[in-house]
Amino acid sequence: MIEEITILPGLDKTGCKENFTYITLKAGETISIVGPTGSGKTALITDIELLAQGDTSTRRRVIINGEIPADEIRYNPAMKPIVMITQNTKCFADLTIEEFLHIHARARKIPDEKVILETIELANNFTGEKIKKDTKVTVLSGGQTRSLLIADAILIGAAPIILLDEIENAGIFKQEVVSLIQNAGKMVVFVTHDPVIALLTKTRIIMENGAVKNVLYQNEPEIRAAQNLLELDKKIGNVREELRAGKAITFDFLAVNFA
Ligand SMILES: Nc1ncnc2c1ncn2[C@@H]1O[C@H](COP(=O)(O)OP(=O)(O)OP(=O)(O)O)[C@@H](O)[C@H]1O
Ligand SMILES: [Mg+2]
Repeated sequence: MIEEITILPGLDKTGCKENFTYITLKAGETISIVGPTGSGKTALITDIELLAQGDTSTRRRVIINGEIPADEIRYNPAMKPIVMITQNTKCFADLTIEEFLHIHARARKIPDEKVILETIELANNFTGEKIKKDTKVTVLSGGQTRSLLIADAILIGAAPIILLDEIENAGIFKQEVVSLIQNAGKMVVFVTHDPVIALLTKTRIIMENGAVKNVLYQNEPEIRAAQNLLELDKKIGNVREELRAGKAITFDFLAVNFA
């Protein structure tokens, strides 16, 4: 059982020690990592993925439940408590979506066939272009693949920690996924440039020059700002759907959406 992971400071890009004592992330928490391009967001999430022990370019160390993780946990993929999905993550198996999910569910000894359809349904919540169970995983688009793998990680996967590196292009990827993940009791770390996701997470890690610059916690005005942005986002989504469907924006549409 993973109750918490703790990040111990390393060095910034100029070799100076990071200015924090430790950062503890707990099971069931949502965390975002924000900061300019090149500020070290991917490097930080990769340290978590690797359970770094001073052996990466940042020299950080990551400990689990207060202890240095055993080599078996670091190096045996079957024991690894972490799944990371990036913009480049692809599926290479020559299987249909249904077969792919079925193999995973069986390996996890989840007897319920329902979980496969639920996973596809969840993936379809995240992606604009729907996927079907008999589609081959190799022909999915990048966004569809990431949507499928995230849904799989949430509903079928055993890993209690999910790391997502700039996956917002996956489509409608906002409140649903954040609340779903919170309900699933998993720890999720979003590297993101999306203000809505950043505001929806409880903890926000700010990066600069390869180092953690600050850690902030969601406050009341931020929750309200997020709600406003979500409404705006919904409007943008409605317009997007109209345009995708090849329609023109009408006065009726304006009256309904922008009254
Ligand atoms: N503390 C560090 N020490 C040395 N090199 C670092 C450190 N942090 C990041 N780097 C290196 O700096 C480069 C940029 O970092 P990274 O890819 O993590 O940035 P990013 O914030 O993810 O940027 P983007 O938003 O463009 O994805 C990488 O080559 C990375 O290995
Ligand atoms: Mg990056």
